Amino acid sequence: MKPLTWETLNWTVLDRLRETFLAAEPGAGVYWTSLEDVANYDFTYAQRIGWKWDAVLNELKRRGWRPSGGVVLDWGCGSGIASRCVLHAFGVDKFTGLNVADHSGHAVQFAARAAQAAFPNLPVSTGLGEGRIGTLVISHVLNELDESGGRALREAIDRADSILWVEPGTYADSRSLIRMREALRPDFHVIAPCTHQAACGMMIPENERHWCHHFAEPPSGIMADSDWVRFAQRAGIDLRSLPYSFVALERRGVRADVPGLPDAGWARVIGEPRVYKGYARALCCDAAGVCELELQKRDAPDVFKAMKHGDSPQFLRGEHDGKRFSALHEARQITVDLRD
Ligand SMILES: C[S@@+](CC[C@H](N)C(=O)[O-])C[C@H]1O[C@@H](n2cnc3c(N)ncnc32)[C@H](O)[C@@H]1O
Repeated sequence: MKPLTWETLNWTVLDRLRETFLAAEPGAGVYWTSLEDVANYDFTYAQRIGWKWDAVLNELKRRGWRPSGGVVLDWGCGSGIASRCVLHAFGVDKFTGLNVADHSGHAVQFAARAAQAAFPNLPVSTGLGEGRIGTLVISHVLNELDESGGRALREAIDRADSILWVEPGTYADSRSLIRMREALRPDFHVIAPCTHQAACGMMIPENERHWCHHFAEPPSGIMADSDWVRFAQRAGIDLRSLPYSFVALERRGVRADVPGLPDAGWARVIGEPRVYKGYARALCCDAAGVCELELQKRDAPDVFKAMKHGDSPQFLRGEHDGKRFSALHEARQITVDLRD
């Protein structure tokens, strides 16, 4: 197959895929009809998913988490964008091999070839493999799974030492991911996005209307790239809006010292803070739960300014009574710029 270009994109394929994704029906069956389908996806929609992965992987690296090694399994791999991002981010030498698995043969074939081209020295296999999985990569699959798909995924999870899992930042997907976090918490340390190991604070009835989501940045200059801008217009996509939900887990007992667990006291900002005259409200998650906290401009002018410009720090440490910060001691940001 000839490499795709912006001029040779197949819009019949892209429109059909987009409709399939938007319908998001569990157990809808295999929708990749050819390698060309997967290639068109990889060139376009998958890149946006890659930008979300960049944000997640950047956060994990900033937090100091590193994979413990072994094999990467990309479950429901599609074109394999997620595992390629993981390998790029941590370095291919950190892993002994890559397995790509999907119920579509076209997807598996494309993902394996793309990984081999990107990482010529890495052993790449198709299928689920056997034995321990060093890092299980799961990306944008949850809303497609029926009961048997869910069981198959659970079998992979049971073999995994760590799990990196990214889903769209919708209410439904976030809530599904939170249920998985809660189900897996007894066996796994929660590395991110949480700053604690306690039950998810979203689960209480008062927080029913909220969901755990974040926003990734597209690569700088994307809005000046006429090919991407034309693509986005034609596909009806806002390039700047990249909401995602994610969870990163490491199995208990794999390492004596688990890297990347934050010191106590940090709160993770969820979504975007709302900014008013003289104060802002940020949905914050810490060991005590999830609550909307007010921050006065006069108490932290720089943080307030950053929030106002859509550049909020993701981590805050201070004192609060569950309603407002009485003191903000520290604020930290995660910047996104991982891949070349
Ligand atoms: C929206 S695509 C995402 C692909 C890729 N993970 C990504 O993030 O770009 C969902 C993928 O999950 C696969 N999938 C859905 N149900 C599955 C199942 N029961 N078993 C294996 N793969 C499945 C689909 O074939 C498709 O490749």
